[in-house]
Amino acid sequence: MTIWNLGSINADMVYAVPHLPRPGETLPASDLSRFLGGKGANMSVAAARAGAGVRHIGAVGPDGLWAAKRLAGYGVDTRHVAQAEAPTGHAIIAVESSGENLILLFPGANREIGADHLTRALGEARAGDLLVMQNETNAQVEAARMGRDLGLTVCYAAAPFDAEAVQAVLPYLDFLILNEVEAEQLQQATGLAPAELPVTQVIVTLGSKGARYFDTESGEFADFPALKVEAVDTTGAGDTFTGYVLAGMDRGMPMPQAIDLAMRAAAIMVTRHGTADVIPDLAEVQRARLG
Ligand code: RIB
Ligand code: NA
Repeated sequence: MTIWNLGSINADMVYAVPHLPRPGETLPASDLSRFLGGKGANMSVAAARAGAGVRHIGAVGPDGLWAAKRLAGYGVDTRHVAQAEAPTGHAIIAVESSGENLILLFPGANREIGADHLTRALGEARAGDLLVMQNETNAQVEAARMGRDLGLTVCYAAAPFDAEAVQAVLPYLDFLILNEVEAEQLQQATGLAPAELPVTQVIVTLGSKGARYFDTESGEFADFPALKVEAVDTTGAGDTFTGYVLAGMDRGMPMPQAIDLAMRAAAIMVTRHGTADVIPDLAEVQRARLG
């Protein structure tokens, strides 16, 4: 099967800083590096590195051909990555020594995905394929609705979180992944606890406490403790987790096994600077000795 990802592609400019800047502060960085990023691209790369067949639907500007090439270099099918007139999305990411970050996001071409483009791409999808979206592109609702009509398993990673955006796609979803604070915000907006949401599966990530998986049909949930690692840069760890979970689902892996691998991949990511370019592959994740 195939994972279709309607997802953002960003140039990540990562500034290493002694602390996160305060209002009005001019803060010199000790290091600056550029990575392929964007929550969408990170998830595509993670799923591909986990062994899944991934087809990315997105857009870059005239300045972003390197990013699309790099995405393809990681084994992601980029035939449906279009070139828009707007500049490529980019993120200014400040990372302090504790691993904590701050992200300024310019969506650019990620918000220029046309209806024709989406229809053409998803026209190639087959019932049973997986479709994933995050909240960094336009056309999320259209894609979710098309995905549902086509018999795809529709997944949504609610990041960056916006309760309204989640509610707009919720009627079309099979699978939702969000963090603890977001789950509470969504509950305030909808009155529904994670186990009551109208989707079949929900994962609530709990940061250093791990994750909770809800099978809303059976009403059961399972907890997965986090692995203890020395955090250097948490950027992209959540996206890596999601990409690995999706790859597991796509390969028909039992969810606990998929989550276990995803936890390990995310733990490795936390120990490294950077985003898509440093996502570990399955062999490395399986080999790694982690807490
Ligand atoms: O989740 C990390 C990502 O958020 C970065 O790659 C950055 O591009 C932003 O989209
Ligand atoms: Na990282």
